[in-house]
Amino acid sequence: MKSPARLAQILFPAIVAAALGLGPVATAAETSTGSGAAIILTPPPSAKPRINGAQVFGVRPGTPFLFTIAATGDRPMTFAADHLPAGLQLDSDTGRITGVLNKEGDYVVTLHAKNRLGEASRPFKIVCGPHIGLTPAMGWNSWNCFASAVTAEDIKKAADAMVSSGLINHGWTYINIDDFWEVNPHRANDPTLQGPQRDADRNIVPNPRFPDMKALVDYVHGKGLKIGLYSSPGPWTCGGCVASFDHELLDARQYARWGFDYLKYDWCSYRPELETHRKISEAFVSTLTNWINSFPENRRDDMRPYAIMRAALNRVPRDILFSLCQYGMGNVWEWGAQVGGNSWRTTGDIRDTWKSMSANGFSQISNQPFAGPGHFNDPDMLVVGYVGWGPNLHPTHLTPDEQYTHISLWCLLASPLLIGCDMTRLDPLTLSLLSNDEVLAVDQDPLGQQAKRLVKNGDLEVWTKDMEDGSKAVGLFNRGDSPAAVEVKWSDLGWSGRHRVRDLWRQKDLGTFQNDFGAMVPRHGVELVRVW
Ligand code: GLA
Repeated sequence: MKSPARLAQILFPAIVAAALGLGPVATAAETSTGSGAAIILTPPPSAKPRINGAQVFGVRPGTPFLFTIAATGDRPMTFAADHLPAGLQLDSDTGRITGVLNKEGDYVVTLHAKNRLGEASRPFKIVCGPHIGLTPAMGWNSWNCFASAVTAEDIKKAADAMVSSGLINHGWTYINIDDFWEVNPHRANDPTLQGPQRDADRNIVPNPRFPDMKALVDYVHGKGLKIGLYSSPGPWTCGGCVASFDHELLDARQYARWGFDYLKYDWCSYRPELETHRKISEAFVSTLTNWINSFPENRRDDMRPYAIMRAALNRVPRDILFSLCQYGMGNVWEWGAQVGGNSWRTTGDIRDTWKSMSANGFSQISNQPFAGPGHFNDPDMLVVGYVGWGPNLHPTHLTPDEQYTHISLWCLLASPLLIGCDMTRLDPLTLSLLSNDEVLAVDQDPLGQQAKRLVKNGDLEVWTKDMEDGSKAVGLFNRGDSPAAVEVKWSDLGWSGRHRVRDLWRQKDLGTFQNDFGAMVPRHGVELVRVW
């Protein structure tokens, strides 16, 4: 049973907290972003050190290692690591771990972050072997904000803001350039997209908006962040820029020379019939024949272009996360891991509407068993903050409750989290949505499990995710148009007795509950809890 005060508090947290004198139940604030008044539930981070972000990290032997310890708390802060394997060094001022590991194996390290108020410690497992991306990627991508207008300056500013906003301290890592870094002969009237497509050695050449790719990559790395880029297995990207068909190995080598850490590989202009036109890469692709022939015949055409790029990436001395993008065709979740995808898009492009976001997120049901450490379903990027597919941006059309649903659901789904907004205009609500460490820990849990839909009762849904410590993250969702009570029964979780429940957005223990837990959930909203 819930007390009326508790129900009201969930419905109207700010007002009730103030009226009841409940103090820091929820930090309330209003911003002008989004539709209506925005309620900030995430408490500000403590001034004491706290280590956030991934607890497990995959690296291939012999490749450059970069991991920045994410920690909140007052600066100055000093970092230390016990049992760091030979080959790695930690910079005690920046918390960056760099170097190279040559021997495969699991290395369990203890990280420490210390400031004048105290010290935090946390285990961190480095897994040196064939697999990377063991937890879903967290970062930013240029598309939902700049789209075809992106420039190197925009990328630098996004990297700057990732640091100055403090988001880097919550585990946000990648700064990804989407389409339009390449030359685009289809937009002949835009001089910033014209130039040589490839050099004399057939290496890809960026368009004039990216005059020095190596310098840009170094700039982003210099901030302790990683950087990604985009291509297509066809001759052209979705936007009509030069892409990788018949140049896969050359492109992978060029990405590695520049120092990229992430590749989004977007189907668009690929067609299986193109394979008969392969010339430059014929010899390389013929080495893959046995592998490709081992794929199920009805999926071979879907899998081939991704297998070719995966094989190319495997041949370069750099860890490049591989993000498949083909909108879910051919049940990609069934074979995405087999072609070495670290994630695969399962849906069409997201927009900042309730219809689009909820359709993408709540449809992730039959693909659930296929997610795991190193390979995740991807219902597309985040649409909080100022978005707009460039150049005119607007505050997301999602209401605050819809934004809570969006982030809660993506974290439950163990989805890659790629911020899509203008990083230089992070308003307080957006920042609070992206910096709740207990919510982000649901996404980053080392078990790598995707939530299952446990209950569907009309517009009310309960989704649960198994966590490594045996607890469950539970989302009580209301997809309907008026507030409703949503509950989870312990028996549906296979549990009995009393269980401890914590509200993750408010970072507050709610008590122990017998048989079930329920809450009033606003229209299009969520109550996200963790149950032990
Ligand atoms: C497709 C993808 C988007 C974006 C654009 C770029 O639509 O799904 O995420 O990468 O291409 O052109």
